[in-house]
Formats: sequence, structure tokens, C-alpha cells
Amino acid sequence: MKLRKLALAAFVGSMIALPGIAGADDEGTIKYRQSVMKAVGGHVGAIGSIAKGEGGSADHMKAHTAALADLATMVEAAFKDKVVNEEKSRSLGKIWEDWDGFAKAAGAMKEATAALAAAAAKGEDVGTALKATFDSCKGCHKDFRAEKKG
Ligand code: HEC
Repeated sequence: MKLRKLALAAFVGSMIALPGIAGADDEGTIKYRQSVMKAVGGHVGAIGSIAKGEGGSADHMKAHTAALADLATMVEAAFKDKVVNEEKSRSLGKIWEDWDGFAKAAGAMKEATAALAAAAAKGEDVGTALKATFDSCKGCHKDFRAEKKG
């Protein structure tokens, strides 16, 4: 076997050994979409802290808002595969029964976060755009996410 082929075989082998990367099973699908949402939540939390002057550095506002706008472009795709699991996930079956509505809610987040990133890039006040971003989160969660248990 040529060296290159060996290296490729070793690489593919290592991918298979990593759970969650090889083969999209239902658990992996849930984990991925929750990871995307956690990343969204993380950036929104950081943006809120900076905007309120509670923590962080104003110099980082641009990077957080740009990352959030990037993540927003992945939300629709992250939910493409229908997996409903009341134990492990708060995604409601309604997402796939009303895919157009869900896609619209994801589009609203894309628009709001793009406006937020644009305001931050120009060094403008982000208050209005941040409020619209929060509204876009609620706009989707109220229809498509189950209430927290307990
Ligand atoms: C288009 C729909 C949609 C939009 C827009 C959306 N979310 Fe979500 N979010 C969901 C769904 C559905 C879940 C439940 C995922 C699951 O458990 O399978 C979720 C889960 C979450 C979670 C919990 C993740 C975890 O498992 O710990 C956080 C945090 C979150 N969203 C934050 C946000 C924030 C902040 C915004 C706005 C910037 C936002 N989301 C916008 C649909 C959306």
C-alpha cells in the first residue's frame, strides 16, 4: 500500500472511532442541532453582557455578532432531518409538519442577526438590532420548542 493510501486509511479509521462524527444517527442529529443552538446562546449571552456594559470588551462586539450571523445561516439546515425525542430534545414535531413556518422563523433570525452584525461592524449602537434578534429567537421558540421540563 502506498504511503498516501495508508495515511488516508488511518484518517478514515480515526473518524469512525469518533462517535458523533461518523454516520448521522438520531442521537448525533439531536446533539448537533443542540450544539448549534448552544453556540447561538453563547454568543447572544456575550453580546448582551457587552451591550449592557456588564462584562467583556466592546472590541469583541464585532466578532460575536459576526459569528452569530454566521450561525444563523446554519439553523435551517441543522433541523432538516426529522428527529423527535421527548426525552433528549425539545424540538417539537411541528417543525417538520410546518417546515415553511420553521424556515420562515429561521429566515427572520438570519435577517435580524445580519442587521445586528452590520450595526456592530459600523460601530453603531446595537440596541434596536439586538431587540429584533431576541424577538427572532422567541418567534421560533414559542411555536417550535417544547417548554422546559420540571
Ligand atoms: C428557527 C427556529 C429557532 C430560532 C430562530 C432560534 N432557535 Fe433556539 N432552539 C430552537 C429549537 C427547536 C430548540 C430545541 C433543540 C432541541 O432540543 O432539539 C432550540 C434550543 C435552544 C437552546 C437550548 C440548547 C440546548 O440544548 O442546551 C438555546 C440556548 C437557544 N435555542 C438559544 C437561541 C437564541 C439565543 C436564539 C436567537 C438568537 C435562538 N435560539 C433562535 C429553535 C430556534
